[in-house]
Amino acid sequence: MFERAVGIEAIHVHVPKHFLDLRALASANDVDEAKYLEGLGGRRMAVPAPHEDSVTMAASAAMGLFEHYDVSPEDIGMVIVGSESEVDGSKATAAWVHGMLHLPTRCRTFDVKHACYSGTAGLRLASTWCRAASPGGTNKALVIATDIARYEVGSPGEPTQGAGAVAMLVSDTPRLLALDPYPEALFTEDVMDFWRPTYRSSALVDGKTSIDSYLKALAHTFAEHERVSRLGFRDYDYLLFHVPFPKMAFKAFRMLYERDAIWRGDAPSLDADFERRTAPALEANRELGNLYSGSLYLSLAGLLNNRGARAESKRVGLFSYGSGCCAEFFSGRLGPQAGSWRGRIGIGSGISGRTELTYRQYLEIRKAGEALLNDSSYRLLDPGGDRRVSFMGIRRHQRIYEVSEVSKSRRKAVKA
Ligand code: HMG
Repeated sequence: MFERAVGIEAIHVHVPKHFLDLRALASANDVDEAKYLEGLGGRRMAVPAPHEDSVTMAASAAMGLFEHYDVSPEDIGMVIVGSESEVDGSKATAAWVHGMLHLPTRCRTFDVKHACYSGTAGLRLASTWCRAASPGGTNKALVIATDIARYEVGSPGEPTQGAGAVAMLVSDTPRLLALDPYPEALFTEDVMDFWRPTYRSSALVDGKTSIDSYLKALAHTFAEHERVSRLGFRDYDYLLFHVPFPKMAFKAFRMLYERDAIWRGDAPSLDADFERRTAPALEANRELGNLYSGSLYLSLAGLLNNRGARAESKRVGLFSYGSGCCAEFFSGRLGPQAGSWRGRIGIGSGISGRTELTYRQYLEIRKAGEALLNDSSYRLLDPGGDRRVSFMGIRRHQRIYEVSEVSKSRRKAVKA
């Protein structure tokens, strides 16, 4: 039977304006900086400002997508937001995004949650829906992964924090990544490796259990995908992983490498192989830190941004892991002209336009952001800067957002 090709038509990343260098964090925590830079593989981490939350980041990523690609908001029939940093227990972030972008009223909007797996849940659901479009018709979905990774100050998880959002247009014109139509390779197990009770703003984690669970899920899903697709470790030009911290991608790659090396004697060295097939995707992860639901897709965007035309038509394997846990390994092929969209991804301009924080400023911003999470009194924030959309404060228990005049006029220009 004819299988309609589906996948990612466009991708755009929202990069928060502020960052903290991990060397400054190491110094404040009295830790050898090599532990953060080499042991965890990080470099900097994005720090959300008080007027940034999962809603503003999601909307900003989506606005960037429509500004930079030749796609129309009018075509969107479904919006799925994946997040574990929701600001409301009932109202969907997707509804806010839908309103801010003036998307068509004939549209299905909802959020999904399963720790870092939610972005993949959205992508896979949207792909199935796009594939099922009636003959001659077309379905286009906006899938957004948006999160703030926050751990206790001074805890082992602190250097793995981060923030940001990745917006993806999913359709049957998969210019950037066409997904392979193999049966799904999934793994779920009820495990207490990482969690965030609703009364807390920062996550709790059993670090060792989380790493073991991640690797166990990778072993299961990779073996299953290998069985259904007959694609082996060496058949991938690039291997992308969920990136809680960049060294985790190395641990994941190493496990697959060693598993493969048992069968073959002619393997390239582990380091050389990793540098060629995974490291090119990790640059943006090293700059932004963990994006939870968006981390894997930040790697995908980073690969396109970094390799450009050299990545065109290449086969990619993708591993998604969400604590708790649910995981999936899937694959696809980058588009034959994917490199030509390189300048539209938002990573380069986003990273170069950032402001560095001192450790003290990081603590102040963090404290202000956390205070707002539980504050229902009205306060007007000064968003400053050139943000597309800002959280302004809370009035009568309602969150107030402001879309900048620049974004409004860009939207009109896109429509015209
Ligand atoms: P830790 O226990 O403080 O660190 O926290 P460590 O002692 O294990 O050291 C880390 C690495 O640094 C080790 O390397 C050390 O040897 C090395 P490894 O043995 O692993 O290769 N090291 C040094 N290297 C150079 N110079 C030095 C030095 N000292 C030590 N001087 C941990 C590490 C990851 C546990 C912590 O950061 C943490 O709890 N992170 C959050 C949890 C996490 O990221 N888990 C990953 C898997 S779960 C997941 O991915 C899901 C998640 O994204 C959430 C979701 O699904 O929503 C987290």
